[in-house]
Amino acid sequence: DAVTMEKIVALAKRRGFVFPSSEIYGGLGSTYDYGHYGVLLKNNVKDAWWKSMLQERDDIVALDSAILQHPKVWEASGHLAGFTDPLVDCRTCKTRFRADHLAEGKADLVCPKKPSKLAGQGPECDLTEAREFNLMFETTVGPVKDSGSVAYLRPETAQGIFINFKNVLQFSRKKPPFGIAQVGKSFRNEITPGNFIFRTREFEQMEMEFFVPPADAPQWYEYWKQARFDWYTGLGIRPDHLMLREHESDELSHYSSGTADVEYLFPIGWSELEGIANRGNFDLSAHAEHSGEKLEYFDQGSGERYVPHVIEPAAGADRATLAFLVDAYDEEEIEGEQRTVLRLHPRLAPVKVAVLPLVKKDGQPEVAKEIVGMLRGRMQVEYDEGGSIGKRYRRQDEIGTPWGVTVDHQTLEDRTVTVRDRDSLAQERVAIDDLPALLSEKLAA
Ligand code: GAP
Repeated sequence: DAVTMEKIVALAKRRGFVFPSSEIYGGLGSTYDYGHYGVLLKNNVKDAWWKSMLQERDDIVALDSAILQHPKVWEASGHLAGFTDPLVDCRTCKTRFRADHLAEGKADLVCPKKPSKLAGQGPECDLTEAREFNLMFETTVGPVKDSGSVAYLRPETAQGIFINFKNVLQFSRKKPPFGIAQVGKSFRNEITPGNFIFRTREFEQMEMEFFVPPADAPQWYEYWKQARFDWYTGLGIRPDHLMLREHESDELSHYSSGTADVEYLFPIGWSELEGIANRGNFDLSAHAEHSGEKLEYFDQGSGERYVPHVIEPAAGADRATLAFLVDAYDEEEIEGEQRTVLRLHPRLAPVKVAVLPLVKKDGQPEVAKEIVGMLRGRMQVEYDEGGSIGKRYRRQDEIGTPWGVTVDHQTLEDRTVTVRDRDSLAQERVAIDDLPALLSEKLAA
């Protein structure tokens, strides 16, 4: 069966990955809360990203900048003037449309508030002229609400990196090519959020700005497109569900001389997962001009002074989490019984191993808890003694746990247990004392 968004949403709620936010009050459109397994999964996605940016190389450093920044940041970046969507309202039913969606014929224009003579074929909405709507969330800083206290929740993490370029250059002793990476929340007052956690108004980004000598920008652009594509497939995304799509010239942002999207085949069709942009020197030059600070690199060796160009891979942590969930989702029949399984890469799986006593007596729970104690320093472990063994396996399958350790009557005789593999369902018998090394090895593979 094909995976649908409805199946993902239902599993996410049932198994404690993601809940609709403010649900007891009827919900607040397109906001979500992450439950236990969702937190573990998204943390693993972010950890894998950090690892690829920091631990596996030595030319990138980390940053965690503030969500509230000086309003001039957004003047310089172009967001105050240009981060807008054209908006059209229906005068009768007040539905809001994006003008570009109307132009593409994507919107349903049947007006529910107008009396209709033909059943199911109401008259069309009565549309206003298009007006530009800024997507930034506005707030006020301090107790007095006046024009001088306006601030914005950041709509991207990227600008926090550009405004810290000088600080980072001073302490890190890096020279181009080098990068600054950041993970954090961003906010956009999207007109058409939707499709679960694909597009929300509050979301988390994983962005890296890579500063390079201008002449090397094209080559680094190619490098990062490939590197980011490979990151997803390395974590289990099927290559035929992933593609790189170069933007047409009329799609390019004001700052970009080249952008490609990593697209994933979501249940809603091919959609952007991540953007990789060649931003030129747009941002550093704009912030230098607006702040009066010199934002450039001086090469003491060659005596050369230049404004680095920037290659930016910009990903979404929630959107990536959704892609990993969708790609992992599988339903199959085993011995006449239906099972749902998340075939998550072990590195991403919220729980790595479940430890299950076959029965809740005969000393089995005690040995199982001893095993939990041996493993929990190395990986996320879960102990479960409630319900039939079949039901407990099904539950672990649905949260994507790659291995299940079962304690049975033989364990009490010879201190061996069975290790069940989530995907092949193969069971091997191993000594308890070998478990920590064996499972660590499997996890690192
Ligand atoms: N600094 C460049 C930038 O922000 P973007 O394409 O607007 O580029 C990058 O955003 C990534 O952030 C997207 O590819 C997507 O994964 C994620 N993203 C953007 N808007 C989002 C939203 N409303 N909800 C969830 N994720 C979003």
